[in-house]
Amino acid sequence: MNVENIRLINFRNYHSINVNFNKNINVFIGKNAQGKTNLLEAIYMCSAGKSFRSNRDKDIINFEKKEAYIGANIKNERFEKFVEIKLDREKPKIIRINRSEIKSFKELNTGLSVVVFSPDDLKLIKDGPIERRTFMDQCISQLKPVYNYNINRYNKILFQRNNLLKSSRQNKDLLSLLDVFDMQITKIGTSIIIERQKFLDELYKSCKTIHHNLTMNKENLSLSYYSNVPMSNNRDEIEKVYFNLLKKNIKRDIEYGTTEIGPHRDDIIFNINGKEVKIYGSQGQQRTLVLTLKLSEVDLIKNQIGTYPVVLLDDVFSELDEERRKYLTRLFNEIQVFITVTDAVDIRSFGNYNKSIFFIENGKLEKRC
Ligand SMILES: Nc1ncnc2c1ncn2[C@@H]1O[C@H](COP(=O)(O)OP(=O)(O)OP(=O)(O)O)[C@@H](O)[C@H]1O
Ligand SMILES: [Mg+2]
Repeated sequence: MNVENIRLINFRNYHSINVNFNKNINVFIGKNAQGKTNLLEAIYMCSAGKSFRSNRDKDIINFEKKEAYIGANIKNERFEKFVEIKLDREKPKIIRINRSEIKSFKELNTGLSVVVFSPDDLKLIKDGPIERRTFMDQCISQLKPVYNYNINRYNKILFQRNNLLKSSRQNKDLLSLLDVFDMQITKIGTSIIIERQKFLDELYKSCKTIHHNLTMNKENLSLSYYSNVPMSNNRDEIEKVYFNLLKKNIKRDIEYGTTEIGPHRDDIIFNINGKEVKIYGSQGQQRTLVLTLKLSEVDLIKNQIGTYPVVLLDDVFSELDEERRKYLTRLFNEIQVFITVTDAVDIRSFGNYNKSIFFIENGKLEKRC
C-alpha cells in the first residue's frame, strides 16, 4: 500500500503543492516550524478523514483562506483510489473517493492504513485513560470503519443522556426517557466493548513477541483491558448486565449529571514483570513499550488487511538507539515510510534503501534526490 502523490491547497502553511512520493522511503528535512508535521498530517487525513493532532477541521485551513483541499492517489496490489477532502470554514467537510462523495463515516474506507510514530506517543503510557481509548479507537477504526461510526453514535447518545441527567429536576418523565436511552447505549456500548477486547487480544499476541525481541527476552509484558462493564463470551449477557448496572447507578448519575458506567471509562493496563508500567516503568521501558505497541499495530494491519500500512515517523527516528533503529529499518524494504528530520546528518542511517529526500522550507517542498 502506498501514497503515490499528494496535492495540497491552502492546507496549513502549504499554499499549493503537488508532489510524487517514493514507494519506499521519503525523508522530509527542514528546520522547526517549516511544515514537516503538516505534510504527515495531510497523509494521515487521507486515511482517517481527520487529523491526528486536532479535532477541529477548521484549524487545518490556512489562516488566511476560507477553503482547503487535499487530493491523494493511493495504490495497492488490488486497486488504485483517488481520495479528496475539501474543507470549508462555513460548510461541512466533503470526502470523495474516486470522485464520488461518501455520505457517512461508515463508508470511509479509503484503502489506506496509516500508523504514526510521534514524540507525543509517550502520553499513551503516561497520561490518563483517554489517550489509551483514543489509541484503541484509531487502530480499530482502520481495521473496521463501522467501529468509528459506532463510537460517534455512542458519544452522541452519551452526551444526550448526560444532558437529560442534568435537567432531571425539571423532568417528570426522566426515568422512562432514560430507559429509551439506556437501551440504545447498551447496544452500541456492548459492540464497542467486544471490539476492544478482540482488538487487544490480537494486539497482545504480536506485542509479546516484539517486546521480547526488543528487550532481549529480559522483560515480560502483559496487557489487560479494563472496563467497568463486566465481559463475558455472550453478547446478550453483557448487554443485560450493562443495562442493570446503569439502572443501579441511576441515583449517582443524577447527582453528578454524568454517566458512570460504559466504555467511555475504559482503560488498558500494561505490566512489565508484574509491575504497572505507568507507575513503575522507567523512561526507557515506557519508550520501548510505545514502540512495541506501534510495531504491533503495523503487524495487525498487515495480518488483517493483507498489506502493510504506510508508516509516518515524526521526529522519532533520530531519538531511537542503534538496536531499535535496526529493528525498525528491517521493515523499510516492504513498506512506505515518511520520516521527518531536522538535520540532514540523520539521512546516513537510511543507508542503501530506496529513498527520496525532500527539503521543506516555509511550506515549500524541494526534491533533492
Ligand atoms: N492553519 C494554518 N495556517 C497557516 N499556517 C499554519 C496553520 N496551522 C499551523 N501552521 C503553521 O505551520 C508551521 C509548520 O508547522 P509544522 O508543525 O508542520 O512544523 P514542523 O516542520 O513539523 O516543525 P517541528 O520541527 O518544530 O516539529 C508552523 O509555523 C505553524 O504555525
Ligand atoms: Mg513537527
